[in-house]
Amino acid sequence: MSDNVVVIKHNMAQAILTRLRDRNTGQVEFRSGLIALGRIIGYEIVNELEAEPIEVETPLGVRAMGIRIPDLDHVVIVQILRAAMPLAQGLVEIFSNARVGVVSAKRVESSHVPGSLEFEVDVDYVRVPKIRSEDVLIVADPMLATGSTIVAVLDKILTYGSPKRTIIASVIGTEYGIRKVRERFPDVKIYAVALDPALNEMGYIVPGLGDAGDRAFGSG
Ligand code: URA
Repeated sequence: MSDNVVVIKHNMAQAILTRLRDRNTGQVEFRSGLIALGRIIGYEIVNELEAEPIEVETPLGVRAMGIRIPDLDHVVIVQILRAAMPLAQGLVEIFSNARVGVVSAKRVESSHVPGSLEFEVDVDYVRVPKIRSEDVLIVADPMLATGSTIVAVLDKILTYGSPKRTIIASVIGTEYGIRKVRERFPDVKIYAVALDPALNEMGYIVPGLGDAGDRAFGSG
């Protein structure tokens, strides 16, 4: 997979993902696991932002060299309802100055042609801050399955401005979904905790973790 895809191998992330995959994991732990993964993905993203050296004076009256990360003041986080809410909560804990947007998108099940993985996606609510050229845009979507939803959402929110960088924060991705994103948005960087090998006929990731929204919010 290309440099534009980062799979977070950290044991903490992998242990949390394993709990999320387990069908016996309940709603409360599932949601808090997604929040924790949002924090971990956030830290990974910070590592790739530009840092500049600065000098400070410590209480001992001595100068010490350190860094500051100017981009931390220019982050926009967009969450796709509803499964991304806990993931975005974890990201916002790391990017505490972020401006935050919300998008509602759903697959139009009637548009599904049996045997294909293509769905139309209805992006029916968009409330996104203005996106400026100095911004880092992070779109949270825990399941990058067929890529149809994230492509439809990016098409919509990029009409709000052109950020200097666009990042997708997801938990599980697939090669199919990543290829679809890549074809339309070659420069978008994708963070995931795992890449799974398959999609079933309904576009669910296999082995996956089921329906992330249902499991996080106790429905389904
Ligand atoms: N959305 C989910 O919640 N799960 C999947 O496996 C695919 C899309």
